Amino acid sequence: MRDIAIVTTQETGNIARTLVGRAARSVRERTNLVAATNQPSDYVLNCMRLATNSVQVEGYSGNRFHEGAEAYDAVERFCIKSAAELFGSKYASVQAWRCTNGLLGVTRALAKPGDRVLGLECASGGYYATSTKAHLIGKLYDVATYTVSESDCRLDYDLIRERALHERPKIIFAGDTSHSRDWNWPAMRSIADEAGAYLVADISQTAGLIASEVLSSPVQFADVTLFATYKTFRGPHGCIVLANTGEIWKAIQSRLYPELQGSVVASTLAGLAATLEEAGTPEYAEYQRHVVDVSRRLAEGVAAQGVEIVTGGTDNHGFIAVMPDDGNSSAADACQMLSRQGILTNKTPIPFDRRSLFASSGVRIGASYIANLEVSDDEIDSIAGRIGRTIRSLH
Ligand SMILES: Cc1ncc(COP(=O)(O)O)c(C=O)c1O
Repeated sequence: MRDIAIVTTQETGNIARTLVGRAARSVRERTNLVAATNQPSDYVLNCMRLATNSVQVEGYSGNRFHEGAEAYDAVERFCIKSAAELFGSKYASVQAWRCTNGLLGVTRALAKPGDRVLGLECASGGYYATSTKAHLIGKLYDVATYTVSESDCRLDYDLIRERALHERPKIIFAGDTSHSRDWNWPAMRSIADEAGAYLVADISQTAGLIASEVLSSPVQFADVTLFATYKTFRGPHGCIVLANTGEIWKAIQSRLYPELQGSVVASTLAGLAATLEEAGTPEYAEYQRHVVDVSRRLAEGVAAQGVEIVTGGTDNHGFIAVMPDDGNSSAADACQMLSRQGILTNKTPIPFDRRSLFASSGVRIGASYIANLEVSDDEIDSIAGRIGRTIRSLH
């Protein structure tokens, strides 16, 4: 049998191709400083393209429901083994479609509906799914929050301990969406032990930095560690869940499939395998170190224009520049203005923000994407200068 094209391009109006091409160019042709984004390598993208779409990969490796998926068993097993080796965990799962699904599956595995869970508040840099009622976790569970310190916007472990002992949650979520400092994982472990809680670390933002030992790892301290694989990790849009006991791992697996999801996306599995392979190389670690260097240089350049940076700087791939307090303009205005200049960022609340979520006082700036490109120090300084001047000009 020969390969056939199902629909040739001549039979369509090429509308999708035009729209998608425009969408891709709108990012590629601008300076992408959105901290949540990245660009997988050609190796990862090529492996994803190689994976066929015409396969139903449902169930777990060695226990599939459809014929034709057995070759993907080897891909999934490779991912599991590589992820566990890379991060030093006993167990790994690559079934969750997205980290937000992973978080729900993990919460279902460790707590009963109605149980209290404790997460970092959004304005303090926490992820909405583990700290608000907007996500299903917040609808099924009783979500309480902790904050950073009001004095310096850093994590204050005495304060977190106080909150945990007061709330007595079943799960404490650690990890963040937009905190630019490293976490003290042994401190979080001891707080969880004192409160009788499971510790779940969501390292979506920083997984690549942790894999390369640029930041400290929670894996030995948390009951479960999980992350979105497309940010600093530089992979496809998937999720990796790591656990240290077979009991917890099994409970999570059954919550992910069959309770929460159906089949696995073959191209995502392929992309994860390729990213995990890359993550063991010296070039990958070199890239991760470069990400932090670029992030720090950008933060210094923005601060040099007289703009405040939350916590005064950064240890990781991103940071938050603060809008002047004496003006009417919000971070939303600044981000739109920067976007018109060809610089992509995102608005975000700052700790104890006086502005609404949609206006916000923080401009989040990240280096994961541009650290892949050949950008000189002078260019970085020039970008930082433009950002700083734009923020200062908005009163
Ligand atoms: C801490 C954290 N967890 C999860 C996610 C989202 O992951 P996904 O898009 O895979 O659901 C984000 C995205 O920004 C995040 O910052």
